Amino acid sequence: MPELTLFDKTFEPYLPESLIQEKIKEMANVINTDYKGKKPLFIAILNGSFMFASDLFKSIELEAEICFIKLASYKGTKSSGQVLTAIGLDTDINDRHIIILEDIIDTGKTLNEFLPQLQNQQPASLKIAVLLHKPDATVFPVKIDYCCFSIPNRFVLGYGLDYDGYGRNLKEIYQLKGAE
Ligand code: IMP
Ligand code: MG
Repeated sequence: MPELTLFDKTFEPYLPESLIQEKIKEMANVINTDYKGKKPLFIAILNGSFMFASDLFKSIELEAEICFIKLASYKGTKSSGQVLTAIGLDTDINDRHIIILEDIIDTGKTLNEFLPQLQNQQPASLKIAVLLHKPDATVFPVKIDYCCFSIPNRFVLGYGLDYDGYGRNLKEIYQLKGAE
């Protein structure tokens, strides 16, 4: 895996495809055990999680459903400021076992804001599965139930994650070179 340059930045190979696939299979096995006899609903958050969601779901051996949502911020009223809303959540989550699939938790802002909205609909349970977590970047704490990789606070690219829209198609994960 050679280095790669995208716009003004250089990225170096970080997590190879084989290791990513291995960790995702391990996560799927744990979920298969934890949810035995249950029919969970996976909710994948687009765009970043599409590859992770696809590979994980292929190794899920439960009677499971999956749906894909997009989170969009729009300007709410003055008092509420920015409001995060879910587009595409057309399945009733009341009384369901929900597993959120997210590409990466960085500051935690996105999930910290979105999870209470889901809790309001009273699912039977709500867990979070992430491919990547940057513990040193945490500003808003989120309880993570399943995680493939804890990584340093450095920008990453590939396997669904983008830099200005590009790089999502890479099979492996690259890390920004140099900067901390
Ligand atoms: P958070 O709300 O700060 O936890 O970040 C949420 C979103 O920011 C993620 O779902 C990603 O889409 C994006 N993001 C955070 N860190 C990175 C990164 O290193 N590379 C690419 N996207 C990132
Ligand atoms: Mg994302």
